[in-house]
Amino acid sequence: MFDTHEKHVWIRGERPPATVWWDEETNIHHVYGYDESVEVMGDPETFSSNSQRLLPSAIGSEVTDGNMVRLDPPEHTQLRKLVNRAFTPRMIADLEPRVAALTNELLDELGDVDRMDLVDVLAYPLPVIVIAEMLGLPASDRVWFKELMTKHMHSSRDALEDVAAELEQRLADIRLLRAYLREHVVERRHTPREDMLTGLVEAEVDGERLTDDQVVNFANLLLIAGHVTTTAMLANTVVALDVYPEQAARIRADRTLIPGALEESLRMYPPFQRMIRATMVDTELGGHKIPRDRLVSIWVGAANRDEHVFPNPHTFDPTRDPNPHLAWGRGVHFCLGTPLSRLEGRVAFDILFDRYPAMRTDPERPPVFQPSPDFTGVQELPVILR
Ligand code: HEM
Repeated sequence: MFDTHEKHVWIRGERPPATVWWDEETNIHHVYGYDESVEVMGDPETFSSNSQRLLPSAIGSEVTDGNMVRLDPPEHTQLRKLVNRAFTPRMIADLEPRVAALTNELLDELGDVDRMDLVDVLAYPLPVIVIAEMLGLPASDRVWFKELMTKHMHSSRDALEDVAAELEQRLADIRLLRAYLREHVVERRHTPREDMLTGLVEAEVDGERLTDDQVVNFANLLLIAGHVTTTAMLANTVVALDVYPEQAARIRADRTLIPGALEESLRMYPPFQRMIRATMVDTELGGHKIPRDRLVSIWVGAANRDEHVFPNPHTFDPTRDPNPHLAWGRGVHFCLGTPLSRLEGRVAFDILFDRYPAMRTDPERPPVFQPSPDFTGVQELPVILR
């Protein structure tokens, strides 16, 4: 009924045909409505985050153990309690001077130039270095991470078309990163340091310590979830400000609007376009029956433009209030890194506006977007600085 192209277009903001739609070919139930998306994310007993069990080649527990984003309560609750300790608002707020120093350092390295690729220079390295430093990993490994992550993103391009090959590729990349992290975890068991990896190795949940696999998988999740998304948020916001020059001028003049601009960019261009759940029981959503053991796909970009929640949904408004968008998720899995990404975005834009009052995208070299339909992010962003 709908061709592949049309399906992919919906996630970029066009109006979907229904709030819930069952794709008979893939047997996936697609959710586009805001209320229905919130309902799915708020009910882990019916809509489990452990969707792996329904995928063709089940991913081994060695990779998922400790990957909290795939766990349901009560296991999820225990792990989340533990890692919340590493992400208290106070600890994140304390990082502000370091984030500012890193931003200035990265821009200083550029020297006196007229142009740059904002992703290469800042939007990619800043979040990687911050999360790598928090964990206690050497920032010098960032080139290696970048190559791996770029490959990882590209491998998800045709996710629906060749699920088995896609999973194979992802697994190979994840294994590489895990082997690297394991070396560091083992080292921390012998030689504790003042870093998050040591904290995780020594932490106890209900009297039990985390296994090496659990620490490795959690660190892996932080590295992947922690930087690809923030990179996208920073770069997507630059593009959005170019599209809306009056709003950009307002924000430059009144920096208190930066946080609202970041939230609005996330609403309109959410990096994670889709979240997957698996039904545990027969259920009903938005008037549609969904049997148990079915994959449910929440399309965040569509839900974030549901006009019954967001008036003028296709207009970029940094003063939109309230702005209850779903780019950070909702419910028990609400993004752990939200305060950190918000901090990085606020500090980075403040410094960029100070240093480059005329920064704009380069009309001769348009931004290059990630090709994956599951992800909205600019991967190359040439900008003119003066
Ligand atoms: C703009 C940046 C970011 C966006 C848009 C984003 C988005 C999300 C979303 C949508 C979820 C929920 C997934 C689900 O329900 O299936 C999530 C969870 C998570 N995020 Fe983020 N994230 C960002 C930055 C970060 C950062 C910087 C970190 C860590 C340093 C991080 C760590 C996590 C973790 C650990 C979870 C799992 C939480 C749980 O399962 O309880 N994220 N994120």
